[in-house]
Amino acid sequence: MKTKFYITTPIYYVNDVPHIGHAYTTIAADVLARYHRLKGDAVFFLTGTDEHGQKVEKAALDRGLTPKAHADNMTVNFQQLWKKLEITNDAFIRTTDQQHIAVVQELLQALYGKGEIERRTYEGWYCTPDERFWTEKEIVEGKCPDCGRPVERISEDNYFFLMSKYQARLIAHIEQNPNYIRPESRRNEVLGFLRSQTLGDLCISRPKARLSWGIELPFDRAFVTYVWFDALVNYYSATKYLAPEGTAWWPAEHHLVGKDILTTHSVYWSTMLMALGLPLPGNIFAHGWWTKDGKKMSKSIGNVIDPHELVDAYGVDAFRYFVLREVPFGLDGDFSTDTFVTRFNTELANDLGNLLSRVLTMVGKYFDGKIPQAGTEQPADRELREIALSIPARIDDDLASLAFTRYLHDAWSLVTRANRYVEENAPWTLAKNNDLERLGSVLYNLSESLRLVALYLYPVMPLTSQKIWNALGIGKGINECRSGEEVNWGRLPYGTTIQPGAQLFPRIDQKKNTEKKMEKTEQESMQGTKHEAQQTAPTLSALAPGAAAKDPIGIEDFMKVDLRVGKIVSAERVEKSEKLVKLKVDIGTETRQVVAGIGKSYTPEELLGKTIVIVANLKPAKLM
Ligand code: ME8
Ligand code: MG
Repeated sequence: MKTKFYITTPIYYVNDVPHIGHAYTTIAADVLARYHRLKGDAVFFLTGTDEHGQKVEKAALDRGLTPKAHADNMTVNFQQLWKKLEITNDAFIRTTDQQHIAVVQELLQALYGKGEIERRTYEGWYCTPDERFWTEKEIVEGKCPDCGRPVERISEDNYFFLMSKYQARLIAHIEQNPNYIRPESRRNEVLGFLRSQTLGDLCISRPKARLSWGIELPFDRAFVTYVWFDALVNYYSATKYLAPEGTAWWPAEHHLVGKDILTTHSVYWSTMLMALGLPLPGNIFAHGWWTKDGKKMSKSIGNVIDPHELVDAYGVDAFRYFVLREVPFGLDGDFSTDTFVTRFNTELANDLGNLLSRVLTMVGKYFDGKIPQAGTEQPADRELREIALSIPARIDDDLASLAFTRYLHDAWSLVTRANRYVEENAPWTLAKNNDLERLGSVLYNLSESLRLVALYLYPVMPLTSQKIWNALGIGKGINECRSGEEVNWGRLPYGTTIQPGAQLFPRIDQKKNTEKKMEKTEQESMQGTKHEAQQTAPTLSALAPGAAAKDPIGIEDFMKVDLRVGKIVSAERVEKSEKLVKLKVDIGTETRQVVAGIGKSYTPEELLGKTIVIVANLKPAKLM
C-alpha cells in the first residue's frame, strides 16, 4: 500500500491580489508534494480560496457586483499565479462550492446535536474589519489590539462553540506530539498561552441582519456561520469531494500556514476536531513573514512584491529557489532585489549553470557529443560518488522537518563538490595532454553528478531539473520517475547523445551596472571587430547588443545584409587573442563558423546555447 501524503495551504481571501507571501506558502507545499510524488507516495495537495465574510461582501458591494461574481473574478488571480509558478495542486477548493457548504452544515448540525454549540446573549467589543470580538481586557484604548482600528460595542444573541472545555486536552495533545505545532518557538508560544490563560468559548455565528454572505446555520436560518468556522472546515470537506477516491485522506499530514493564522489553526481547528471526534492533523507549521527592504508590504506604500514580475524577469525556478533558500522556514524574511540577484548570479548562474555548460562543452568537443565511458574509479571519483549518494538520506530528514533551506544546502553540497572536482581534475589539461581515458572518466562522473543534482533539486526547480536531464540526453520526465530507482550511481548510459540547450541561468547585470556595461560592451565589440577582425576573421558576426547607429545607413544597404538567427553550439577562445571567440552557430540550414570580438564580455561557457544574430553574407577575411 502506498503511503498517503495530504498537504494543505491556507485558503486565501479573494480580496487580495496574490503576492510573494501567498506564493511562499504555496511553493513550500508544492515542493513537499513533488518530493513525495517522486518517492511514490499517494499525494493530495490542496489549496484554494476563502470567499465568505464581511470583507468580501463589502468589496463586492463597492464594485457593484454580487459577492459570488466578485469571488469568481478574484479567484482566477490565484489560479493563474499557481499555474505560472508550476504549482501542482491536486485540487482547488472554493468555500462557495456547494459540496463544501453541505459539509460545513453537516458538521455544524453534528456539533449542535451533541450539545457542543449553545445559544447565548453576547456583549462585547467588535472589530468590523477583522470580524471578531474582543473582551474588555483585550482592547487597547478603544482600539482593536490586532489592527489598531476602533472597535464597536455590540450586544446580540449568537451561537457559541464550547471550546473552553477542550483546553486541557489541547495542552496534552501538544505536549504529547512535539511535531504538532512547528517550529519550536511557535509551539512554545501556543503552549505558553494555553497554560497561562483561560480559554473562552468561540462565537461561531453572525446574525444575517449584520452579515448575509455566509453559510446558514442549519439549525437557525437567521444566522450565518463565522467565516473561520467555514474556512477551517475546507481541509476536511475537500477530502469528501475533491480528493481521489479509495484513500482515507483525513487527517492531513501538514497544514502550512503563516504565523498570522496560527491561533485559528492550533486552537480553533484543533478543538473543533476534538469536539467532532475527528483525528487531528499531523502537523501545523507556521512560517515567518516576508517584508520588502525591511518594511511591511502594503498597497498604500506600494511595495507589494508581485510574483509575476519576478518570474517574468528571472524565471519561475529562480523565484522558487530564492524564497526557500534565503530564509529558514519558520523565520521572518526580507526581500531585496540585490540579494536575489546575488544569489542568482553566484549560485544559479555560476555554481550550477556553468557546471552544466562546462561539462556539455567538453563532452561535445572531445567525445563528439556522447557521454563517455568511465574508467577505473580513483579516490577523487569515489568521494564524488559517495557524496552524491549520501544526499538523499539527508534531504529526506530535512524535508521531514520542513527545513527547506537546509535541504537546498545539502543538495548544493554536490554542486560544490562537483565544481571542486573539475578544478582538481583539470579536464582541460587532460584534453591538452590527450589523456582521453581519464578525461572520459571525469566527464562521466560529472555528468552522472549532474543527473543526480537535477533529481535532488527537482521539487524546488522542476523546469531547470528537466532541462538538465534533457541536456544530458535523458529522454524521460523526472516527474515520471521514482527517486528510489534513480538514486543509483551509473544509471546514465555511456554513449548517450547530449542535447545542449540554452544557458540555464544567464547572468543578470545589476540594474545600475547594466547601462554602463552595455555601452562598454558595444564599443569594445565594435572596435574589436573593426581592427582585429579585418586581418583575422574568415567570416565575422557580432553578437547583437543593439549596435549603435552613429553613421546611419539607408534601406538599400540594410537590404544587402543577410541576418540570420542561430544557436551557438560551440564556443572557444582564439589563442593569443583576448577578444576573439570562435563560434559554431547552427542557423538551421547549416552550422557556420564565425569569429566575434566579444571575448572580454563573455566567456565561451556563457555563450554556449545562446541564440544570436549573425551576418551570414559577410565577406571572408584572413585569420591571424
Ligand atoms: O488568512 N509573508 O487568508 P489570507 C508570508 N483566509 N506569508 C504571507 C504573507 C507575508 N507577508 N502574507 C500572506 C487568510 N501570507 C484566511 C486563511 S485558512 C483556513 C484561512 C500567506 O489571504 C501566509 O500563508 O490573509 C498567511 O498565513 C496567508 O497568506 C494569509 O492569507
Ligand atoms: Mg491576512
